Amino acid sequence: MKGIVFTEFLELVENEFGLEVVQQIIDECQLDTEGVYTSVGTYSHKDMFKMVGKLSEIKEIPVPALLMVFGEYFFSTLKDKYPAFMEKPNLFDFLNSIDDYIHPEVLKLYPDAELPSFKAKIKNNAEMTLNYKSSRKLSDLAIGLIKGAAKHYNQNVVIEKITVENDGQKVLLQVNKTKFK
Ligand code: HEM
Repeated sequence: MKGIVFTEFLELVENEFGLEVVQQIIDECQLDTEGVYTSVGTYSHKDMFKMVGKLSEIKEIPVPALLMVFGEYFFSTLKDKYPAFMEKPNLFDFLNSIDDYIHPEVLKLYPDAELPSFKAKIKNNAEMTLNYKSSRKLSDLAIGLIKGAAKHYNQNVVIEKITVENDGQKVLLQVNKTKFK
């Protein structure tokens, strides 16, 4: 997992819960790296799961909820860092481009990035599906990223998990435009 995911996660924890919580997570997680990450390095995704699990324990917030909040936060980082990927005119075209364009470009920049497969289908003007597949089981992070993207495009949406297979390795997501949140 790329270091940017770790540095952004720890920054979010610091902003929301303070440095003491960051320190507690690093102290209690027995991480491979002792909590030192650079944004371009590559680290074991197990460390990320340990840290999210620990934060969930400390703050009594379920892991899926934490991953969604983190996804939304992570989206604004990606948007600022890679504005070229944000040129699509609307949310559905943007989401449609993750698998065909954005993540393949990410792989050119970082050949060791571990990315999900994310087949998209635009059903009609109001509904699309995204088929998440990854051994890392991070569909809740994906939902947070989609929420961040929806905000960016000023589009209110409802995101639902339609089917979940293999303990979250394969998740069909449905995105519906709505007038209200
Ligand atoms: C709504 C839009 C997006 C969604 C839903 C999405 C989804 C995901 C998910 C779920 C992961 C975690 C890895 C996994 O599950 O196997 C991931 C990783 C990543 N994505 Fe995306 N992504 C989006 C947009 C972007 C954009 C705009 C960029 C810009 C460059 C980007 C770059 C990355 C990077 C660098 C990683 C980390 C790879 C690693 O840890 O090795 N993504 N993405």
